[in-house]
Amino acid sequence: MNWRNIVQISKDIYWVGAKDWNRRLFDALIPLPSGTTYNSYLILGKDKSALIDTVNPGFEKELEEKVNQVSNLENLDYIIMNHAEPDHAGAISYLMSKNNKVMLVCTNKGATMAKKFYNIPENRIKVVSNDYTINLGNKTLRFVEAPMLHWPETMFTYIEEDKILFPCDFFGAHVAYGIFDDEVENLIDYAQKYFGEIMMPFRVMAKKALEKIKSLEIRIIAPSHGPIYKNPERILKAYEKWVNGETRIKATILYLSMWGNTEKMVLPIIDILNSEGIETKVHNLTVTDIGEVAKDLVDSRAIVLGTPTFLSGAHPMAVYASHLVKALRPPTKFGIVLGSYGWSGGAVQQIKESLEALKIEVVGAFEVNGLPTEKDMDHIVELGKTLSKRIKESNAN
Ligand SMILES: Cc1cc2nc3c(=O)[nH]c(=O)nc-3n(C[C@H](O)[C@H](O)[C@H](O)COP(=O)(O)O)c2cc1C
Ligand SMILES: [Fe+2]
Ligand SMILES: [Fe+2]
Repeated sequence: MNWRNIVQISKDIYWVGAKDWNRRLFDALIPLPSGTTYNSYLILGKDKSALIDTVNPGFEKELEEKVNQVSNLENLDYIIMNHAEPDHAGAISYLMSKNNKVMLVCTNKGATMAKKFYNIPENRIKVVSNDYTINLGNKTLRFVEAPMLHWPETMFTYIEEDKILFPCDFFGAHVAYGIFDDEVENLIDYAQKYFGEIMMPFRVMAKKALEKIKSLEIRIIAPSHGPIYKNPERILKAYEKWVNGETRIKATILYLSMWGNTEKMVLPIIDILNSEGIETKVHNLTVTDIGEVAKDLVDSRAIVLGTPTFLSGAHPMAVYASHLVKALRPPTKFGIVLGSYGWSGGAVQQIKESLEALKIEVVGAFEVNGLPTEKDMDHIVELGKTLSKRIKESNAN
């Protein structure tokens, strides 16, 4: 009985991917409230066939069944590996063991990884480079090298006749429901969260890739996580802003407080920013979703970081947050660092230095002993006003 849901996205092009409804964590870091998808696409050309990307380990049989429902795995000619990460390449060895003539198609760096990660023999790998094409009969696959999005070997595949771009992780979103973009109401939010963690650290390469695909006429974008864009303009526009580091009149507040003193310092900043018309996103680091932090950093013009002193330095949760900011390389321009201490302090200076190393202009760094006094609160209000002014006066880029 054939019961697998297969979706035709264009003539002879099928979505045969898997939905991971129950996955709740990615990269051992990012919560996935709505699961994710591993999109795989089967292209049945007149003469030859190809599978673009595969699925996460554990879903091999599901993919096999789907391929066999519309075609025959034994007749498959090519597996296109746009990216070597296991969520897309994890089923390659299994599929290649079921078909001893299928060739793996990837970039030069992809070939090295396919050998290392998946023990694929050299004679079963076809290396392609930019603008190389493979003709399946009435379907031409064109490869676009797009390195460091987000691994060194990444590439996109474009089908010329159907004008479909398969960019793998690029334009992706972790969400299990919906096949097409119009089925997920807040899709751009999911995409922004994904961009924040995965693509933001590589904005320079992302910009180059966007430039490269400008010459292609794109009717559909079919990424390897999340829904397929039948209307690609929206995500292309959003990516244009994000890769250029376009910020909004917005501040991300990251803080934690053991006994409430640092929190007392952070709260007036939030109120001042809000009363000055500045969007604020507040994350208590002890309870927040790190994916939401990554998402907010994509377009925030400022960061406010609050941490008490803990064993002579910043609290470990604040060190974690500042390390995350360093790793994700957001386009943040301004910062404020606040904190309370018991006897010798040191947290605020430590975080200030780490933000300044990222070229974030710290417009205020203020440490108080114990509970903030009325005078301290007045100073904090002044800092909030200064930050508001800087945020509003600065332009988007
Ligand atoms: C586990 C622990 C370690 C601390 N280590 C230091 C320290 O090394 N130096 C210091 O000045 N204060 C230290 N303190 C005191 C706190 O910084 C102080 O109580 C501060 O007001 C707490 O701010 P909060 O209410 O925002 O948590 C420590 C407190 C705790 C609970
Ligand atoms: Fe990836
Ligand atoms: Fe992925």
